[in-house]
Amino acid sequence: MLYEINGSSFPVYSLLYFNHIFSGSFAQKKTTDQKVDSVLKLMTLDEKIGQMNQYNGDWAATGPITKDGDKQTQIKNGMVGSMLNVTGVDHTRTLQQIAMQSRMKIPLLFGQDVIHGYRTIFPLPLAEAASWDLKAMEQSARIAAVEASAAGVHWTFAPMVDIARDPRWGRVMEGAGEDTYLGSLIAAARVKGFQGRGLGNTDAVMACAKHFAAYGAAVAGRDYNSVDMSLRQLLETYLPPFKAAADAGAATFMNSFNDLNGIPATGNAYLQREILKRKWNFKGFVVSDWGSVGEMINHGFVKDNYEAAMAAANAGSDMDMESRSYIQNLATLVKEGKVKISVVDDAVKRILKKKFEMGLFAEPYKFCNEAREKEQWNNPAHIVAARDIARKSIVLLKNEKQLLPLSKQTKTIALIGPFVKAKADNLGFWSYDWPDDTARIVSVWDGIKTKIGTSTKLLYAKGCDIKDTSRSGFAEAVEAAMQSDVVIITAGEARDMTGEAKSKSIIRLPGVQEDLIKAVAATGKPVVVLISAGRPLVFNWIANNVPAIVYTWWLGTQAGNAIADVLFGDYNPSAKLPISFPRTEGQIPIYYNHYNTGRPAHNDSDLNYVSAYIDLPNSPQYAFGYGLSYTSFLYSDIELSKKSFKSGEKLTVKCTVANAGNYEGEETVQLYIRDLFGSVVRPVKELKGFQKLFLKKGESKTVEFIITADDLRFYNDKLQYIYEPGDFKVFVGGSSDNVKEADFRLIK
Ligand code: BGC
Repeated sequence: MLYEINGSSFPVYSLLYFNHIFSGSFAQKKTTDQKVDSVLKLMTLDEKIGQMNQYNGDWAATGPITKDGDKQTQIKNGMVGSMLNVTGVDHTRTLQQIAMQSRMKIPLLFGQDVIHGYRTIFPLPLAEAASWDLKAMEQSARIAAVEASAAGVHWTFAPMVDIARDPRWGRVMEGAGEDTYLGSLIAAARVKGFQGRGLGNTDAVMACAKHFAAYGAAVAGRDYNSVDMSLRQLLETYLPPFKAAADAGAATFMNSFNDLNGIPATGNAYLQREILKRKWNFKGFVVSDWGSVGEMINHGFVKDNYEAAMAAANAGSDMDMESRSYIQNLATLVKEGKVKISVVDDAVKRILKKKFEMGLFAEPYKFCNEAREKEQWNNPAHIVAARDIARKSIVLLKNEKQLLPLSKQTKTIALIGPFVKAKADNLGFWSYDWPDDTARIVSVWDGIKTKIGTSTKLLYAKGCDIKDTSRSGFAEAVEAAMQSDVVIITAGEARDMTGEAKSKSIIRLPGVQEDLIKAVAATGKPVVVLISAGRPLVFNWIANNVPAIVYTWWLGTQAGNAIADVLFGDYNPSAKLPISFPRTEGQIPIYYNHYNTGRPAHNDSDLNYVSAYIDLPNSPQYAFGYGLSYTSFLYSDIELSKKSFKSGEKLTVKCTVANAGNYEGEETVQLYIRDLFGSVVRPVKELKGFQKLFLKKGESKTVEFIITADDLRFYNDKLQYIYEPGDFKVFVGGSSDNVKEADFRLIK
C-alpha cells in the first residue's frame, strides 16, 4: 500500500517512520535520540550495516580504488550510508535522489577532504599554524565550510590534529606542527570554524578530527608506518589536540592507518571505546581511514575481511571507508554472535543522529542549492580573507642589513626561479584544481607586478625546473641578476612532494635549485630567497650565505599578493614557526620540548661526554616559535607576582615588550615553563601560553599571563594527571630559543 507526500510514493510502514521522525503538525515533538530510535526500530540488519558503509564516488580518488559493482544500485538498496569524493550540487543531488528511492529513505552523507579551503584555497594548515592566529584559522575553516556546503558537501575530513615532529613525514603539512598546546588550540579553532553556528545550519559542515591516533609519530617519518610509544607520551603529547577537538564539538573522528603499540588504530578498543567514547564521552561517530579496516590483514592482525570487520566494529569503528569489510561480513558476524547487535545499533545510532542534526532527514536536498553554490563560487570576501591569512603565515627567517622590505621604487628587480610564474603549485597538497584556476591564482610574478610602480623594471628568468638537473637556464638567470638592483629567487618543492604518501628521506631543495641560487648569489647582488614547501626543508648553504630568506610554504589562491605585501612592506611579517627546522636530516626527530638527559650539552660546541653530535650542533637551524619582523622587539625582565604559590592560587607573570625598530608590527609573546624535578622527567620547556601584541613604533605594552597549578599538570608513571609541588622556571620571549626566565615554586 502506498501514500504520497510531495509527489513521492511511500509504503505504509513509512507513515509510521515519518510520524516518528518529524515534529510539527502531524507528529508529536521528539528528541533527536527518540527519532533515531524510531528509525532504527524499522531497519533490517542489512539496512543498518548499509549505514556503516562508505564508498568513494567515481569522480575522484584519494586512495587505492576498488572497482566493483554498481554503487547506485547499492545506494538504492540501502547498502550505503555515506559517499566521499562526490561534490557539486549536481552530483550530490543525483545520488541523494537515489538514496531517497531506498526503502528507508535515509539520506546519504557526503564527505570530502576540505583541508585548507574548497574553492578558495588557503595556506596549508601547517603554514596557517605559523600565524598563531586562532581567529584567522577559525575564519579560514569557516569560509571553507561555507564554500563546501554550498557545493553539497556535508562533512569535511578535517582538521588533521596529529602532532608531528618529523618533517620527513609528508603529512606534516596537514597539521599544526610539533606542539601539543598550540595544536590543541588550533584544533578547537578549526572545529569551530567548520561547524560554525552548529550542525543544522546550511553553511556548517561536520568536522572530523583525524587521525586517531598518533599517526604523526610513524617510525622514521615513513607514511603509514608503525608507532610504538609509551602511554604517558600518548596521553600527554598526542591525544590532547583530539580531546580539544572533541570538546569543541567535533561531530566525527577518523581513526588512523598506523598500528599503535602493536594494535592497529582501526581495531584499537583502548583508543576508540575506552578513551574516546567512554572517558571523553564522545557522542559522534568514528569513520575508518580509507581501507584501514581491510588493511589490518596486511598488518598481520587479522586473517581476512571477516576478522577485520569483527575487530574494527568491536573496537568502535562505526563506519567503514572503502574496505567493504562491513558490508560483506557484518551480517554474518552478527548472526554468529561474534559482533553483538548492540554494537551495530550503537554505531548506526551515532550515524543517524548526525544525519538528523544536519537536518537531512527533514530536507535531504538542503545542501543542493544551485543559487547558493554559484554565489559562493566567486565570493570576493573569501579572497580578501585568503590574502590576509596568507600574509600572516609567511615566516621571515633571515633579513641581514634589513634588506627587506624592498622599496617600491627599486629600479630593476630580477625574478628568478621555477616558481615565479607557477600557479597550481601555490595551492599545495589537498587542494582542488578548478577549471578557471589559472586566472584566479595569483603567482609571485602577478603579485609583484601589481605591487610595484611603473618606474620599476621586472626581469624574469626561470633558471631551472623544480626537479630537473639541467643548468642550461643558469646563464640567463645570472645575466638577469647582473642587470638588477635586487634579486628575488623562488625555490622549493613541487606541490605533490609533500602530503599523503609523500615521505622523503632527503628534505632538501630538489634538482639544481640550490646551485642556481649559488650561481646567482655569486654575482654579488643582494638576494632574497623565497622558499615554497609543505614541510621544513634543509637548506644550510642558503641559511648561511644569503642575506634574506622568506619561508612562504604554499599559501593558496592569493599567494603572490600576500608575498608581495610582505616583500614590499605593506605587511610586516609576524609568523612564528610551529615546528623546528633541522640543520640536517640526521637530527630528526627534533623538537624543542625534549628531555634534558643525564648528560646535557651546555652549548652547541660542548662535546665533553655529553649528549651531542660530533659533526653538528644540537640546536635546530630555526627553532620552534622563531620568526623575524621588520621591526625589533625588546623584552624586559620577567616580573612575578610572588616567588611561590599554592594550588588554588594564581601566579601572575608580567613582561614588557617594546617596539624598538622602525616599523609598527605584531609580536607573538610566548610563555614556556619547566618543571625542574618531577617524579617523571619533564621537558626542558613547554609552551603554556601566548599573546599577540600589536605595537606602533616606539610603543611598549605589558603582557600578563596567569599560571595556576593546572598549567603544571602532567601524567605520572601511574598515568594520573597531576601536578607536583616543587621548583619551576618560567620563560617569556619571542621564540623558544630566545627567552627571559624567572624561578617560582609551587608549594603544598
Ligand atoms: C587519508 C585521510 C583522508 C581519506 C579520504 C586517506 O587516505 O589518510 O586523511 O581523509 O583518505 O580521502
